[in-house]
Amino acid sequence: MKTTIYYFTGTGNSLAVAKDLAGELESSELIPIAGLVDSDSISAESEQVGLVFPVYMWGMPLIVKAFVEKLSLPESAYVFGIATCGSSAGRTLLQLNKMLKRKGSGLSAGFVVRMPGNYTPMYGALPDEKQEKIFVQEKQRIPEIAEIIEPGKAAEIESSFFLLNVLFGLIHKVGSSKIPGMDEKFWADENCTGCGICVKVCPVDNIQLEDGKPHWLHQCQQCLAFLQWCPKEAIQSGKKTQRRRRYHHRAVKISEIIGQRAGEST
Ligand SMILES: Cc1cc2nc3c(=O)[nH]c(=O)nc-3n(C[C@H](O)[C@H](O)[C@H](O)COP(=O)(O)O)c2cc1C
Repeated sequence: MKTTIYYFTGTGNSLAVAKDLAGELESSELIPIAGLVDSDSISAESEQVGLVFPVYMWGMPLIVKAFVEKLSLPESAYVFGIATCGSSAGRTLLQLNKMLKRKGSGLSAGFVVRMPGNYTPMYGALPDEKQEKIFVQEKQRIPEIAEIIEPGKAAEIESSFFLLNVLFGLIHKVGSSKIPGMDEKFWADENCTGCGICVKVCPVDNIQLEDGKPHWLHQCQQCLAFLQWCPKEAIQSGKKTQRRRRYHHRAVKISEIIGQRAGEST
C-alpha cells in the first residue's frame, strides 16, 4: 500500500525523519505542506497518510494547522502523525488528533521523535557529539515506527504527562496567536551581503529584500530557516543570537528547504 507523507520543516529534522521513514516503507511519496497550504482544498488519495512536522511552543505549527483544516482524507484512511521536538512535545499530537476527529477522521498512531533543538532565540545548537547521539537514537526508532505503520497497526498517541499537557496546552493557546508577529525581533547585522537566501528558504514568502537587507512581513511561522541557513550567520533575533551556534540537519540540503514552497517532492 502506498503511504503519502506530508511534511513541514524549517531546519531539516522533520524532513530527515520523513525520508528515513520513507526508506523503511515499501511504497511512499513525500509531499511538502508548504507547497499545498495555499490551495483551496487538499485531497489525500492514499489509504495511508502521515504528517511529519516540528513541535512549536508545545503544539502544531500554524501552517500545519491550516493544512489540516483544508485536508480531506478517504473515510477508511490510516492516518499517523510524527512530531519532532527538542525535548517535549506536550499535547501536540493530541491536538492533531482532535482536529482530525472534527473532520470525521483521527490518528491511528502518533509518535514523538526527539531531534536536536533549533530555537536559537533561547539556546545555541548542541555540541556535535550530543547531536550524534540523538541521530543514532532516531535511526533506531524509525524502523520500529515503520513496523507499526506498514501493516496499519493502531498505536498510542504519544504525549507528555496530563498536568504538563494542561500547562503546555495553555501556553500554546495564548502564545501561538502571537507567532506571525514575532518576526519583529529579527534583524540582519553588518555581515549580511544581501544574497537573498533567507528569502528563498522561507516556506511562506514572509521575507523580502529592501535596500539589500531582509524585511519581514509578519506572516511568520518562526521556523527560523532564514536564521539557520544564512551562510554568513548574519540574521539575528534580539540581542543574544550573535554568539549562539546555528543548527540545521546535516543530511538535508538547502535545495530541499527551498523546494518546499514550490511543492518539489524530495
Ligand atoms: C518556534 C519554535 C518553537 C519550538 N518549540 C518547541 C517545544 O515546544 N518543545 C520542544 O521540545 N521543541 C521545540 N522546538 C524545537 C523543534 O521542535 C525541533 O528542533 C524540531 O525538530 C525542528 O524541526 P525542523 O528541523 O523540521 O524544523 C521549537 C522550535 C521552534 C523553531
